Order: sequence, then structure tokens, then C-alpha cells
Amino acid sequence: MPKKQIHLAAHFPGVNNTTVWSDPASGSHIEFESFRHFAQTAERAKFDFLFLAEGLRLREQGGRIYDLDVMGRPDNVAILQALAAITDRIGLAGTVNSTFNEPLDVARKLATLDHLSGGRAAWNVVTSWDEFTGENFRRGGYLPKDKRYLRAQEMLSTAQALWDSWPADEVVADAGSGQFLRHGDAGRFAIRSDQFDISGRFPVPRSPQGRPVIIQAGDSEEGREFAASSADAIFTRHGELEAGQAFYADVKGRLAKFGRRPEDLKILPAATFVLGDTEDEAAENARQVQYQQVGPATAIAFAEQIWNRDLSDVDPDGPVPSFDPKTDDDVDSGSHISKGRASVRMYKDPVAVANEWRELGEREGLSLREVVIAKNGRHTFVGTPQRVADTIDHFVQSDASDGFVLVPHITPGGMDVFADKVVPLLQEKGSFRTEYEGTTLREHLGLAPSPTTVAAVSVEA
Ligand SMILES: Cc1cc2nc3c(=O)[nH]c(=O)nc-3n(C[C@H](O)[C@H](O)[C@H](O)COP(=O)(O)O)c2cc1C
Repeated sequence: MPKKQIHLAAHFPGVNNTTVWSDPASGSHIEFESFRHFAQTAERAKFDFLFLAEGLRLREQGGRIYDLDVMGRPDNVAILQALAAITDRIGLAGTVNSTFNEPLDVARKLATLDHLSGGRAAWNVVTSWDEFTGENFRRGGYLPKDKRYLRAQEMLSTAQALWDSWPADEVVADAGSGQFLRHGDAGRFAIRSDQFDISGRFPVPRSPQGRPVIIQAGDSEEGREFAASSADAIFTRHGELEAGQAFYADVKGRLAKFGRRPEDLKILPAATFVLGDTEDEAAENARQVQYQQVGPATAIAFAEQIWNRDLSDVDPDGPVPSFDPKTDDDVDSGSHISKGRASVRMYKDPVAVANEWRELGEREGLSLREVVIAKNGRHTFVGTPQRVADTIDHFVQSDASDGFVLVPHITPGGMDVFADKVVPLLQEKGSFRTEYEGTTLREHLGLAPSPTTVAAVSVEA
């Protein structure tokens, strides 16, 4: 039986607090040269796609811009459109919010990217959850949380209807007969649903993939259902072996009720890596990176996200605070000290987390900063290139994932070492491509072609 193939994506670090900005090797997160270097490395390594996150409002903590994790938040579709011109095969995936955009505009941008790249576009559909981000847009909080996935679902089905509204053979452009369009009636749509009431003609002829690849990155019950019904890939946080297997089984198990097969949805956890020539060297490198990632100020910032109060006079090299977190603020409504950070939502019981941190600190004699590193700073894969390749392959072969979205800590050169040292070992194992076989991202991911087009679309929901 042929080996299960690994799918790899390269996440441009950009907005992550795991990014090391103080290292001399660290470059700009906004200049095109950084994107060029990163994309071309990932393409040289035959990755499936490049991934760009999106931040629609600068995160804040204690009323200040959260400068520790904001390196730059330029518009990602524009960046991908520029990258289309200097790459040939790698997929180009952009995160675009479904709550604060209009379907025709998003569909038009993604179809344009698909045309410019010859069929390499992907849309990571995110809903966002916080009113803080919503304030940036018309109508403040705008959409109640419980309607966000309804809107995401309708946004996606509307975008798909628009993409499908042009038959592939509509543009004839026959100079001899003078015929430009075959029927001259393409692109017509009428959508009436809970969230949308739009009609007209979609202005972009059918793109090479028909429908760009759809990625989903939410983790709630609604998010998982949305992915199972409609996404081609999930970008998830569940990157540990057992947690990954549980998530994989959960989401793949939801596909049948939507008439889909397990291979129709790829599960791709985020993963970090630190390499070394020996296991000891890799462990030491990982330790150093963790200390770079969690400097004294970052340790305090992380602790404030749990304690939900100003800890600027706490010593990061002293013990974990003995007092309890403040629990009377709601993360979603924006009254929390930390605004706009997804990770804060994971601390459902901050007092229990604080107790855990305190116990760990006392038991192991760790400072607050060391506890933050122990709890938040773990890297997914640490070891020699051989060890990392073996582990990645093991995770994929044992259905903890279908591959990984790799997030290096140095921009833009952090992927180079993975491309040079780990990818050849995965190729030797026969679990990762040595050449691109197809030209579109759908082909790289082993997805079925988009459904055939229809000439006119009418959706009533
Ligand atoms: C791995 C991962 C990556 C994400 N990346 C982004 C992002 O770049 N931009 C963004 O606005 N939201 C991002 N999100 C969060 C989404 O906004 C998601 O829609 C939100 O968490 C609400 O969905 P949920 O309640 O199902 O988790 C990400 C989530 C995960 C799990």
C-alpha cells in the first residue's frame, strides 16, 4: 500500500508572539523581500502552500498596543497577489474574516488571486469572536457571537455560488468569428438568506480552480461542524500526538453525515520546530529560543493575560504571584486587560491555571518567567533533522494529522534549515513529494476538482 503523503504549509510568522524579533537574523515583517524569501524557500521545499494570518485590530494590553506580538499586519491578499508573480507552484492561502466583509468582494479578490496564480488560491475563513475587533467596523460589535458561523456558512456558500456562476468555457475570444462570449449571460446570481440579499452579475470569469481551496481555523463545536460540512482543510492548534488523534477522529467522523469522505478534509495542526546536530544541541537551542521568545516583559504580559490585572511591579525572575487572578471580566466583551487575543479564551478557569502555575513553580523551584516558558514555550518538534522527520512522519502515519502548518521563529530565514535538512529526509521516506505533480493547490492537497459550473445561480435560504 502506498504511504500516506504528508502535506506541509509554511506560516509566515508575522503576528505571532512566538516570533523572535530581537535576534540579529530577524528581518522585516512588512517589506516584500521578507515575503519573497519565505515563499521561495517554501516553494523550493515543495510545500503545499504558504499561509498568511490576519489581524483586523491591533491587540492591546492594559490600554497599550501589545507590541510584543505585533510585528506588522499588512493586508494579506495583496501580499499573496504580489507573491503569485514570483512563484510558480506553491499554494497561496490568506486568512479573510467572514464577519466583517461582503461576499462579492471576498469572492472577487480570491478569484482574482486564483487567476493571477494559475489556480493556487486558498481562503482561510475565520469568524473572530470579540467585540473589540468589531468596533473597527461599522455598527460596533456588529454581529452576535452565535450568528457568526451562520454568517460564515452563508458567506461561503454565496462565494461558491458566485465562483460557480461562470461556466469554464464561457470566454471564447474567437477573433475569426468575432465571438467573445459563448452565451453572453454568465455570472448572474440572486442570493436571499438570513445575512445577505444580493443579486447581479459576478464580474470575474471562472478561475483555474473554479473554487479556491477553503481552510477553517475555529475550534468550537460550530467551527468543527462548519469545517466538516464545507472546508477542504483545517488549521488547528491540536498538534500533540494524542490530542491530535482525538481531534482528527472527531472531525473526520463528522464528514459522513455531510456526504463527504475522510480524504476530502485535510487536518493540519500548527507546529514549531528547533533543530540541532545532536539531540543535546537541539534541546539547548530550543532552550535558548524559548528564552528569546519569553523575555522578562513577555513573561509579565503572559501572566497578566491570566491574572487579568496590571503586574508591572511583579518580578519575572521571582516566584509566581501568590494572589489570585481577577475573574469578573468577560474576555469576549472586551473588558479584559488583554484585548483581541485568541489564546486568552483558552483560560476558562484562570484561578485553576494560576494554582497550577504556582504549584509547578514551587515544586521545581522555577521563577515566573521559567513557569511561562514551561507552560507556553514548548516547541512541537525538537531534535536532529532525522528525529524531527521521523516524528512528523509518525504523527501523520498514525492519524494525528495529515501534515503540519509550520511556524518558524525567525523571519524570513527560519524555514531555510527545515527545507535543507528535514524535507530531504521526508522525501527519502517516500512520504513527501520530490516534485510538484500538479499545478493547482487542489492537486497538491489531493482534493477532488471543484463541482462543475452552472450558468445561473439562485440561492434561497
Ligand atoms: C490555528 C488557528 C489559527 C487562527 N488564525 C486566525 C487569524 O489569523 N486571524 C483571525 O482573525 N482568527 C484566527 N483564528 C481564530 C478564528 O478567528 C476563529 O474564527 C475564532 O477563534 C472563532 O471561532 P471558534 O469559536 O470556533 O474558535 C485562528 C484560530 C486557530 C485555531
